[in-house]
Amino acid sequence: MKIGVVGLGYVGLVTAGVLSFQGYDVIGIDIDENKINLLKNKRLPIYEPGLSEIIFSDKSKIYFTNSYEDLRDREIIFIAVPTPSVNNEIDLSYVVNASKSISSLNKNCTIVIRSTVVPGTAKKVMGLTNLNVISNPEFMREGNAVYDTLHPDRIVVGGKNAEIVANIWRFTNSPAIITTNENAELIKYASNSFLATKISFINEIANLCEKIPGCDIEIVAKGMGLDPRIGDKFLKAGLGFGGSCFPKDTKAIASFAESLKVELKIVKDAIEVNDERIQHAMEMIKESAANKDISVLGVAFKENTDDVRESRSLLLIKELIKNDYNVSYYDPVVKEEIENAYRCKTAEECIAKNENIVIATEWPLFREYERIMENKIVIDLRRILDHKKIKNYRGVGLGPKS
Ligand code: UGA
Repeated sequence: MKIGVVGLGYVGLVTAGVLSFQGYDVIGIDIDENKINLLKNKRLPIYEPGLSEIIFSDKSKIYFTNSYEDLRDREIIFIAVPTPSVNNEIDLSYVVNASKSISSLNKNCTIVIRSTVVPGTAKKVMGLTNLNVISNPEFMREGNAVYDTLHPDRIVVGGKNAEIVANIWRFTNSPAIITTNENAELIKYASNSFLATKISFINEIANLCEKIPGCDIEIVAKGMGLDPRIGDKFLKAGLGFGGSCFPKDTKAIASFAESLKVELKIVKDAIEVNDERIQHAMEMIKESAANKDISVLGVAFKENTDDVRESRSLLLIKELIKNDYNVSYYDPVVKEEIENAYRCKTAEECIAKNENIVIATEWPLFREYERIMENKIVIDLRRILDHKKIKNYRGVGLGPKS
């Protein structure tokens, strides 16, 4: 089967890489010329563990291009372009434009929408293109994208002849939900909103723990998570959720629902609780730091990625700068320069620089430096260190000693 993938961001590149590795003939297209040049030179435009090995493997039959012309002979074309948030609403223009470009060249293909889109989008694209449109949302986490695409918990496909796409993913041996376009589209939003809500919920309980002597959110979450009805995943209290998905998707579904006169109160509260995390962290820092010279460990929106989109850590650094803190920072992968802050080359340099250390991204690597932080003032916003080992420790969700 001849497959095309439009949009070579995290979702598109991983989809293209995994399918070509499985033996499909894949053409990947992106309008960004730099990206295509990098890929042609066997270099990835993003950091994603395991992706390079599959995408540039001799086994993979994959061709990268800027030109929609190259999609003329494709039977199945995945659309994996961005669906950004504009004034809290989803901007579908990239999906619409990509679909129109495809249909002007290829009248025989099936379009598969892999981007996260509000219910009704596939039908809209069908109307615009006269092509069959199948919805196939992805459920991959950045940093684990290759694993999640090879071993997804489930495959969701919706629309007429959706089995074609379910068959493409059959090698995963994962359960498949074959349904309507609209159900498939909503499953994605409901899943991301539920996970975001779980995080905001545990962050609220963490706020409560901080006021109760003897309480620790890590133990409370563990005790909750052992109940299989609750589950132990996504109960990690911290600085809140960031990234290119949860912040955008929760807002998009809330405003989509509003357009149908439905209020998603819980989702809206989850967004609000998340928005408050930065100020909450600022209060902890103001109360605990010895002075205004501060070292921040972690810039990425979570571990194992170089992505800083909606990164809580980046927002916190900017807020610290706004409040006249002298910020030094370090991230194992993100090399971005932040205005009015100093980027350290190593974690050791960053830790040595100041008495106050803030842990803002949950890179497990930072645990290796626990020993050299023992005598520092540590504000652990991701609860990754052993608080008993640090003399002056303040952590999210950790109550005063009883
Ligand atoms: C998320 C979903 O997990 C994927 O299933 C989905 O496919 C993807 O969005 C998407 O829509 O494309 P991702 O944004 O890569 O994946 O990252 P997550 O691992 O879900 O983490 C999101 C944020 O939540 C991070 O900032 C992380 O630090 C935070 N988080 C996560 C917590 O604060 N606590 C947790 O317990 C888990």
